[in-house]
Amino acid sequence: MDFDALLSKIKPDEIEKEKVESLADSMIVFINNLAIEKGISTEAFLVGSVAKKTWLSGKADIDIFLHFPLETPLDQLKEQGLYLGHECIKKMSGKWEERYASHPYVTGHINGYNVDFVPCYRIENSKQLKSAVDRTILHTHYIKNHLKEDQINDVLILKKFMEGIETYGSEFKTGGFAGYICELLILKYGSFQNVLKAAASIWKQGSVIDLEDYGTGNLFSDPLVVVDPVDKKRNVAAALTTQKMAEFIVSSRNFLKYPKIEYFNVVNHCSDINAIKNKFNVRGTKTFLICFNPPKIPADAIYPQLKKTEISLSSKLDLEGFKVFKSSYWTDESKIAFIILELGVWSIPSYKNHEGPKVWDELHQERFLSKYGNEAWVEDDRWMVKVPQNNNSVEIMLEFFLKKENIHHLRIGKHLKDAILKNNQIIEMKEFLSTENISKELLEFLDDFLNPGQNLWR
Ligand code: UTP
Ligand code: MN
Repeated sequence: MDFDALLSKIKPDEIEKEKVESLADSMIVFINNLAIEKGISTEAFLVGSVAKKTWLSGKADIDIFLHFPLETPLDQLKEQGLYLGHECIKKMSGKWEERYASHPYVTGHINGYNVDFVPCYRIENSKQLKSAVDRTILHTHYIKNHLKEDQINDVLILKKFMEGIETYGSEFKTGGFAGYICELLILKYGSFQNVLKAAASIWKQGSVIDLEDYGTGNLFSDPLVVVDPVDKKRNVAAALTTQKMAEFIVSSRNFLKYPKIEYFNVVNHCSDINAIKNKFNVRGTKTFLICFNPPKIPADAIYPQLKKTEISLSSKLDLEGFKVFKSSYWTDESKIAFIILELGVWSIPSYKNHEGPKVWDELHQERFLSKYGNEAWVEDDRWMVKVPQNNNSVEIMLEFFLKKENIHHLRIGKHLKDAILKNNQIIEMKEFLSTENISKELLEFLDDFLNPGQNLWR
């Protein structure tokens, strides 16, 4: 396959490079000068894909890290880091956005770019690590020192492929491959083609990639282990799910068999609401959504809680005799979140047969009969009785589980539990699709729910 045409689209040209790099430079100069003026002991550095020259054209997010000396108290680092970020965004007439994250940082929208300002500690090696983001500067150095000029093209092609097949991004929403992993994979296997060949034929569950031969791969039990070259105790692929690893392996096989340029663009998911309505109709199932307002916690904290809730709800319904055919979850991370449950069996009988003791056991028979009297009967050598089942439609069952006094039956993260109890709505898909103002992104999610795996083929 000839990648030149692709590269001409995804590789930033000189004009874009100059624009991004000079913007980054001017922000760094501004911050460093302001820090000196205010007596703040820090220094701004450019890190991430812009520093490594591995960003996809038009997709530059500029990562600026503010390095504080190791002895800086965390509160001070937070306060001064955010202050400098805010001042810089103001100076550049940008818009800033409060981000909820495990570490403090601020994002600005400046001249059409997203710029992250992240305070961290200036460490020389991983032993000095004080916060999760401190390694980033070491990553940047490592890649700049090891990635050859022409391998930058391979990184870009790999990132674009990952985007096309929907496996790019290490945030919990995706659970896929981080940009840094793409770079390490190119270092390991040499080229885009070789990464795909390795994934297609060599990778197994738990495969270890250990560029510096630290021999620490066995410390981890993740689906894929990529030992961080700058920190032998860290698996860079810790956030990669088995699902996304498997999707990458399968797509690599598919691509190597029939290479097509379409793999480098995301599939066009259906966003036609009527088509989606019809698809739900012809399945012969009933689908319910439990909608609520997502809690104001970092996105990376919401997704695992949604997953946990989905699993808990479907296993409870199955235990009660309903049959969950398929389930998932979705959120726009601000106004709406839901668990979606598609049922093959959505109503259960209004009573169930309850077994009593065997007739040979007179003592237990008496106890049983004192409770159930002559409602009971004998089947073979055993007492039986029918007892009512009250929650015999799935809506009623869900309402029951989501009551304050019953929600302890479910395994739900604390923030989600509070959010669901505060306000929730159980709504059938048909109704949902005709009443709500539904975004394109949500419709595409539903299309993927109905027809998973479109991302794997072209
Ligand atoms: P980014 O997610 O911005 O990655 O994280 P990137 O390399 O700049 O790639 P783009 O933006 O998608 O093109 C910035 C840095 O944070 C560290 C890496 O050092 C990365 O370069 N990082 C981020 C990780 O180590 N692991 C992650 O999962 C995410
Ligand atoms: Mn980045």
